[in-house]
Amino acid sequence: MRMRKVLGAIGIAAVGGLIGVTAPMGMSPAVAQAAATPQPLASLDGSWLVVPRRTPGSVAIGGIPRSFVLSSDGRTVTGEFRFNGWVYPIANMVARPDGFAFDLTGKPPFVKMRAKLSAGGRFLDVWIGDEVVGVAPFLARRVTPAELATVERDAPRPDNMTKLPLPALHDVGVKNLAPTPPMGWNSWNVFREAVDDAAVRAMADRLVATGLRDAGYRYVTIDDGWQGKRDAAGVLHPNAKFPDMKGLVDYIHARGLKVGIYSSPGPVTCTGYIGSHGHEKQDAKTYAAWGVDLLKYDWCSASNIYDTKTEMQAQYQKMGDALAETGRAIVYSLCQYGLFDVGSWGNRVGGHLWRTGGDSIEGDLWHAIDFRFDHNGNAAHAGPSAWNDADMMLVGIDGLTPEEYRTHYTLWTMAASPIILGNDLRTMTPATKALVANREVIAIDQDPLGIQGRRVSQDGKTEIWTKRLADGSTAVALFNRGDAPAAMTVRWGGAVGVAQPKMLRDVWRGADLPVRPSYTTTVPRHGAILLRAF
Ligand code: GLA
Repeated sequence: MRMRKVLGAIGIAAVGGLIGVTAPMGMSPAVAQAAATPQPLASLDGSWLVVPRRTPGSVAIGGIPRSFVLSSDGRTVTGEFRFNGWVYPIANMVARPDGFAFDLTGKPPFVKMRAKLSAGGRFLDVWIGDEVVGVAPFLARRVTPAELATVERDAPRPDNMTKLPLPALHDVGVKNLAPTPPMGWNSWNVFREAVDDAAVRAMADRLVATGLRDAGYRYVTIDDGWQGKRDAAGVLHPNAKFPDMKGLVDYIHARGLKVGIYSSPGPVTCTGYIGSHGHEKQDAKTYAAWGVDLLKYDWCSASNIYDTKTEMQAQYQKMGDALAETGRAIVYSLCQYGLFDVGSWGNRVGGHLWRTGGDSIEGDLWHAIDFRFDHNGNAAHAGPSAWNDADMMLVGIDGLTPEEYRTHYTLWTMAASPIILGNDLRTMTPATKALVANREVIAIDQDPLGIQGRRVSQDGKTEIWTKRLADGSTAVALFNRGDAPAAMTVRWGGAVGVAQPKMLRDVWRGADLPVRPSYTTTVPRHGAILLRAF
């Protein structure tokens, strides 16, 4: 949480988002291998615009430009980093054999940065953060002051950048709009800011054609990157990638699917698009007029303004009230990374689901999955229209083994987490499809009782979880978090608290198993076995 909190405090995770990279721990090898002669400080003089780089997900259209403006006096360099509408003065610039090191100051004053000139001084490779908070690399291009001024003039401008009056807390009164954990697809993990109208339509089509809609995946959510500018009346319009939002929503609805959209209680989203701060009612009305069915509301830059639990609750409540006032049934998905025991107040602000941690897609993917075994939110808070959200799925995105994908899906299922796919459905392999379309597994996630399963025994790196289901049966998952295969045994009537069943299913295989006083199997490394005991 420390990492997320510190990065979140300035929205630095969004720097990674902007350029479509994952943030590795530790300093980049490029920094370590740089030339041994320090580059002159004066070579940093000028304006630098942060630009997209490398991955398709890095296309920034419609966001707020980020830039450095630097000037040297021969001995040191001063200037500022303009980030999402905020300005961070630069201090303590030093030239080192491996580039430059400096600090960002301002609120919150914490950020260490490194930089190195590349391509003959035309680019600046920048690393934000340090070994403690994590390092995110990004790229800036040398521009003329006139060029920067033009980009900034044409860009969206956040308003309401300071604290606004907060309402007294009350109970918004949540409607049962999500009786089982929401299932669907979200654009972030695969498209990031590159998401556009055509991509979303294609995903809706694929949900239908692959049968996934009929397996339960109903919400198509457009995450960050759709927003454009507010007009003179304050109404927010989509950017050029979404020429007809109402038309897009109608297209998705016509296919028997629902539509989700994304915003922030801060003035700016995590990736530098316009947020809803001070425009909650107006934005809720816009979403309702388009026909939106779900809002993911992401804390992001609100952390630059608000600090306390009460402030956070009030900010989420504002939008909860605004959504209720529209009269439209809109599922409200809170995204504040599990801070302040959100499950204990999520329903009061009108929320139906809430994230329990940071982004799974950042950093080492197996580590991100493994982390969720111990950070699943409080199971006691879970139930119909009150879901602990373990974050979007990584299934079908490179980086995990088939066993790890199965473990990931099994854990989310046992935890009654929303299952929101994050992969490109156009290029989904038969193996990925088989994994995410397994109806017996989905039935356990979607069980109407809405109980979040719990770990009932643990032995080193192996653990057993159980989840009671509406028909009186129990789902039993055997997990091996270790790096080698492990023999595991479930003794019926023993510590796992499940009596010897009359019938036993291997749920992933869809096969009945013989019933004996105990069940023993070998679970692969990072693997999972899912049983249903009747
Ligand atoms: C945060 C959220 C992600 C995604 C991005 C978009 O990092 O946790 O799920 O919505 O913002 O900028």
